[in-house]
Amino acid sequence: MGRKLRAALIGFGGMGHCHAANYQGQKDVKLVAICDKNPQVFEKGVAELNFGRTGFTDVSGYNLYRSYRELVAKEKFDILDICLPCPLHARYAIRAMEDGYDVLTEKPMARSLAQVDRMIAASKATGRKLMTAQVVRFMPQYRYVADALREEKFGKLLRLSARRNAGMPSREWYRDCRQSGGALLDLHLHDIDFAQSILGVPETVLCQGITRESGGIDDLMASWFFGNGPIVNIESSWCRGGFDATLAAICENGTYEIIGQKVLIHSRDGKTETLDFAKEKSGYFREIEYFARCVLDGTEPEFCSLESVRRSMQVAFAEDRSARSCKKTRVRA
Ligand SMILES: NC(=O)c1ccc[n+]([C@@H]2O[C@H](COP(=O)([O-])OP(=O)(O)OC[C@H]3O[C@@H](n4cnc5c(N)ncnc54)[C@H](O)[C@@H]3O)[C@@H](O)[C@H]2O)c1
Repeated sequence: MGRKLRAALIGFGGMGHCHAANYQGQKDVKLVAICDKNPQVFEKGVAELNFGRTGFTDVSGYNLYRSYRELVAKEKFDILDICLPCPLHARYAIRAMEDGYDVLTEKPMARSLAQVDRMIAASKATGRKLMTAQVVRFMPQYRYVADALREEKFGKLLRLSARRNAGMPSREWYRDCRQSGGALLDLHLHDIDFAQSILGVPETVLCQGITRESGGIDDLMASWFFGNGPIVNIESSWCRGGFDATLAAICENGTYEIIGQKVLIHSRDGKTETLDFAKEKSGYFREIEYFARCVLDGTEPEFCSLESVRRSMQVAFAEDRSARSCKKTRVRA
């Protein structure tokens, strides 16, 4: 058996727990250490997500640290997995790459395009791999639809419509849009990234939204304009309870609908088929698996490249400007 990579995770809140669970069963990488500035998180064993609580994580098998400095001084590892609040991603990713680690970081990649560019430059300068965990690209039901659209199985895509709603997250940093970017950057980015990964960057966007607790756009509806491309509408909210995420892709000869982990395929001649991806490996498992494979093989993570994620961030910031100015807005570099 080949070498197994060693990963260390920093930020053991909701997503830290989710990532920790998804190292279980990985072939190429094992989680060896967890770092969080708040030692209470190790005692609790569970954390909040914006759609409930995580499962219990038994931390007894990991080396536990209180700071990045202590982690690098005492632990031997290859990959730093960053599950910190968004405004800290750039600082820790750059520092870790300069210290010689490959870096997997949670979305949003960073809080500004300037930070994104510094992260990309650091990856180039150090030769270390960096990937943002845009999990929706890796979810098997979204992957199925993305492939079907690329292959034009039902002909051309005419309209893409997506919706993602969740309650307002409880942690303080989310409730300050200067840190989280509000629902637009934190939640809505998932569907921006999925749509952008298939369709590319629209010429202009029109976003209408409501400013709530975070001071940012926490409930919104966005339309994209490509000139000659499909109609794209994406709706997201932190102002509703529970969690739901759906997508409809209406093509010339049929429609794909994602509801939870199912894909409903309706052909224009009246046939409907349902595919259930619930038993497949999750998007979280797949993103870790993919990144570890790229590190071992020495290949670039092209499936979720830095340039492509940067384009999604450009669209997100253009939507934010559109919502604040109430104007159709050009997506600029
Ligand atoms: N992909 C997804 O589906 C998804 C879902 C939720 C959150 N996220 C993203 O994951 C990231 C983390 O979100 P979360 O909900 O887990 O946040 P959280 O607030 O629950 O957890 C963050 C953790 O980081 C720790 N921390 C903060 N500063 C630190 C530092 N300097 N050193 C060490 N530890 C530090 C905190 O103590 C906390 O335990 C965010 O970027 C968020 O947008 C992604």
